[in-house]
Amino acid sequence: MKEGKPKILVVGSMNMDLIMYNVERIPKMGESIYCTGYEYVTGGKGSNQAYAASMQGADAYLVGRIGTDDNGRALMKQLEEAGVDTSFVVRDEGHLTGLSTMNIDADGNYFSIFASGANDHIKPEDVERAMDQVDFDMVVMQLEMPLETVYQTYGMARQREIPVFLDAGPAMSIPLERLRGIFIISPNEAETAALTGIVPDTKAHTEEAARWLYEKAAPRYVLLKLGSRGALLYDGREMKWVKGYHVDAVDTTAAGDTFGAALAVQYCKGADMETAIRYGHAAAAICVMRKGGHPSIPTAKEVERFLLENKVGRREQNK
Ligand code: RIB
Repeated sequence: MKEGKPKILVVGSMNMDLIMYNVERIPKMGESIYCTGYEYVTGGKGSNQAYAASMQGADAYLVGRIGTDDNGRALMKQLEEAGVDTSFVVRDEGHLTGLSTMNIDADGNYFSIFASGANDHIKPEDVERAMDQVDFDMVVMQLEMPLETVYQTYGMARQREIPVFLDAGPAMSIPLERLRGIFIISPNEAETAALTGIVPDTKAHTEEAARWLYEKAAPRYVLLKLGSRGALLYDGREMKWVKGYHVDAVDTTAAGDTFGAALAVQYCKGADMETAIRYGHAAAAICVMRKGGHPSIPTAKEVERFLLENKVGRREQNK
């Protein structure tokens, strides 16, 4: 295990989430449907990852953009209380803080509508400023920001030999050439389908999608997040299926963000990739049993307790 806390740079979105509970179905255009309640909760993929990395015991830094509005102030307050270094977050006077409506069904799954606001203006220079000042152990990012910033962040990290974990959400088809050689590319099922054109609905299709991604992005690892089927790790030689935990989900918001950040922290602390994935699964399992983005993200102690209480042998978990 490495000494000290890993330094993780998260680059990405900061949103206020308007969470609507018990949305029965996706409405048609012109139709209004009821839900049972709502609340405003701080979130956004980047902000969730930074929050989770800090809760998992890293020195977490966030590069992102907010407006000069109440939603931006609420986000900063939550992140700072969680110990995230927000000194590289830009307050953008020309744009509103991002907002996402999270429409949650009775099983905790959601569809969302996203107004990206200031997130659309995250610039490579914002990232460079952070990288010039701190020696990071890993960069964690997603796609809720300009793609040019995603590509240039990878380029800058690569120059500095910093491994990059890309959570490939939200679902979109992007050219992968400029990400060739990235450390980890990690889409969920919908994102895998959008990136590869292959729906990962069977073992064979899932492994085919992993091979496709490996060929296009030439990463060290492809890591597919497969919901109740766990995760598939592919390093160009071996397909490793790592099962997750079955829990009663109430809200899956931030589960993928928490999984990636927890995994990144564990890996930087010296865990092997499979152990880090199991840790990520445990963190995500706790997250889905709670409501909201930031408030649902567990501490390292909570994850360790969960792992002890749900101890299964490696062989048994992989059956
Ligand atoms: O990954 C979950 C996040 O995606 C939510 O917090 C929402 O803001 C959307 O960006």
